[in-house]
Amino acid sequence: MGSPHWKRLCLLLLAGLTSSLLLYSHYRATVEAPTSQRIIASLLQPGPLVPAPSGTPQGASSRRWALGGSSESGNSLQPSAELEEPEPSRKQPSPCLHSVTARAKADPKFREIFRFNTPVLMWDQHFTLETWNRLKTRHVPYGWQGLSLAVVGSTLQLLNASANRHLFDRAAFSGGCVRCAVVGNGGILNGSRQGKAIDSHHLVFRLNGAVIKGFEEDVGTKVSFYGFTVNTMKNSLISYEEYGFTQIPQGKDLRYIFIPSDVRDYLMLKSAIQGSPVPEGSDKGDDPQKYFGLEASAEKFKLLHPDFLQYLTARFLRSELLNTQYSSLYMPSTGALMLLTALHTCDQVSAYGFITANYEQFSDHYYEVEKKPLVFYANHDMLLEAALWRSLHRAGIITLYQR
Ligand SMILES: *[C@@H]1O[C@H](CO)[C@@H](O)[C@H](O)[C@H]1NC(C)=O
Ligand SMILES: *[C@@H]1O[C@H](CO)[C@@H](O)[C@H](O)[C@H]1NC(C)=O
Repeated sequence: MGSPHWKRLCLLLLAGLTSSLLLYSHYRATVEAPTSQRIIASLLQPGPLVPAPSGTPQGASSRRWALGGSSESGNSLQPSAELEEPEPSRKQPSPCLHSVTARAKADPKFREIFRFNTPVLMWDQHFTLETWNRLKTRHVPYGWQGLSLAVVGSTLQLLNASANRHLFDRAAFSGGCVRCAVVGNGGILNGSRQGKAIDSHHLVFRLNGAVIKGFEEDVGTKVSFYGFTVNTMKNSLISYEEYGFTQIPQGKDLRYIFIPSDVRDYLMLKSAIQGSPVPEGSDKGDDPQKYFGLEASAEKFKLLHPDFLQYLTARFLRSELLNTQYSSLYMPSTGALMLLTALHTCDQVSAYGFITANYEQFSDHYYEVEKKPLVFYANHDMLLEAALWRSLHRAGIITLYQR
């Protein structure tokens, strides 16, 4: 309990809480004033943002905005004439019979909770006046309150590849069911010898401090997706360095899933695609290639939709913490968001290293040498998450690894 590592985690948490509270009160003070109107007005005046031309057979609500002017790296983006409805991310039909969707629809409780047509990812076509007006009223990660229109807009504008619209291309898998494993970092995996089983899935999701070297037998080696917020990614590099987590997983076929929990995530994502240092904010000067490797292009990155995060929190993980003074800090854990993302995109989902009823028997993470109790952060509700995994497992919707 009294190890320096544990103390450091507590300090990190405290620092995080304090800065979040400070930021929050600052942002209450600035945002509650009628500034949001002014943000738009002032941005419209010099002309960086113009609504796309109308006249196409489309409601005003789905008019796409485009960035005009040439302040953005000499890359003058003209208002786009083609105005398509954003396509739903789950447009590719699945030939899988025993799928998450089928099982959820057959379950009396989960049938009422799942809404499979909720968009999972966000891409350039979502940058519309309607979306801006709706999301600017909700704080991050559920919206864009207090975020600059220019930052959000210029980031989304870069997510214009077809790969930004779906997590994976179903055509790459020949018929049948697309099977996904989501690997949390829980101590239950120490000595589990689940590596082969994990790697036998078509796609493997990992997150935060996903140490692989030295633990291949227990956790496997395959990484199709790495999920994070800039905050959790950088904290993992600091906290788990001593266990060999010195680099974010990289690879040709690996894709990164950004959780937009802060303006930092939009700024880092934009810089990562552009291959340039972060221009402003608390990560100013950071080189994204240090984290994501040299091969940076829009295809490498996925961005979770704030509406998806809102839907997940409201329907799957509506914590009591939302009724406390910590409500603005609460959000589902990175692991929970990855598992729920897999549940809304894959046909079949296995969860490894997630919290189980007997979590007290295991260390916080699988790579610790001495047993450490699970750290309960004030911004997550791990017991609620444990109950959700248990109940999804009982309903046959996920396979939760337990021992
Ligand atoms: C996406 O946007 C970039 C930058 O504006 C442009 O160079 C590229 O051709 C676009 N890609 C697609 C697929 O439209
Ligand atoms: C993990 O497993 C190894 C080998 O079985 C053991 O020596 C180590 O103490 C375990 N770590 C924890 C934190 O239980």
